[in-house]
Amino acid sequence: MIIGVFDSGIGGLSVANAIKKAMPEHEIRFVNDREHVPYGTKTKQELLKLALPILTSMQAGGCQVIVIACNTLSTTLISDLRAKLSVPLVAIEPMVKPAANMTKTGVIGVCATPATLASNRYAQLKQDYADGIKVIEPDCSNWAELIERDRIDRKQIKSTVDDLILKGVDVIVLGCTHYHWIEEDVRKWADGKAEVIQPEEAIIRRLRHTLEQLA
Ligand code: DGL
Repeated sequence: MIIGVFDSGIGGLSVANAIKKAMPEHEIRFVNDREHVPYGTKTKQELLKLALPILTSMQAGGCQVIVIACNTLSTTLISDLRAKLSVPLVAIEPMVKPAANMTKTGVIGVCATPATLASNRYAQLKQDYADGIKVIEPDCSNWAELIERDRIDRKQIKSTVDDLILKGVDVIVLGCTHYHWIEEDVRKWADGKAEVIQPEEAIIRRLRHTLEQLA
């Protein structure tokens, strides 16, 4: 099978690498749109205009399934994209449900882009799964771009993590694939006081299921 993986930038590369490792028998085609990073501060219309032509050409180029390795696109546009493309799309979303199930303090932190946090889908996830849970959403608006350009501000991110811990957070959701590249740092700064979760394993499970249905 030919599996496409798409993101604005290097966030999706982390996901593509994980898929490649788990499914070496398939061809993985990773495509991004580095020129337009960050996606997370753009409007829905801008995102559609940027992403749709790329995804359409991935479909035309033979991708049999495409992983939207971008929480921003998945949470803002997945239904529009599904309506416009015929290839199955596997969508990454912030892990609100697992975090709500895991927390003991009743306080979780969701690190994500402004567009993800403002999306209806994210609001729905919180309503469906995090009722009665306090969800803290720190300002991560410049993280994706800094990670993309290899100019990570570790001091800023550490102080964000410190603040989450101070507020009683015991699960930190990495709700943007760019943050997968700083997962180990975040875990280190959380210092055992919070679990740090991201959806690569869950996406691989979902992808396997989709591939089984296609076979
Ligand atoms: N990696 C993407 C996400 O998961 C988008 C980051 C960006 O370009 O702002 O949300």
